[in-house]
Amino acid sequence: MPEARLKKILSVFEGKRGGLIPMLQRVQEEFGYLPEEALAEIAEFLHVPVSQVFSVATFYAHFYLTRRGDHLVRVCQGTACHIRGGQDVLETAQHCLGIKTGETTADYKYSLERVACLGSCALAPLMVVDDILYPKITTGKVVKALSGKADDIEDEDQ
Ligand code: FES
Repeated sequence: MPEARLKKILSVFEGKRGGLIPMLQRVQEEFGYLPEEALAEIAEFLHVPVSQVFSVATFYAHFYLTRRGDHLVRVCQGTACHIRGGQDVLETAQHCLGIKTGETTADYKYSLERVACLGSCALAPLMVVDDILYPKITTGKVVKALSGKADDIEDEDQ
């Protein structure tokens, strides 16, 4: 973790109060996750115990303590998606990427997550890769999407 980049981020918060969460957000934006050394630096900067910084970082689901992939694959497992084959979609994604849910590929290209509900139940089952939605996805479309053939998906089955 380049220390100069971290110090630059922290300098923005110099003299400000209550900046822990925005600070964690900025560090995560910069590095893609919250490196352990960064948590220690933040604690020192704020003059608080590392355990306090760590407990905030682990409390919020949107903070990550390990390096994640360049692309985030999220498969919905909410009720509507589950009923319409969400489990098969998730298992296929796991198979394509060679990782389990919550893991990142060895080349740090993809991370795979299951989510409770993406708020678009009419499109179930739903998979999202970064900001791209794959509505009413089938296992065949998962294979295509995760093999870098996402462009072909929309025309299929129409
Ligand atoms: S259950 Fe999947 S989008 Fe709502």
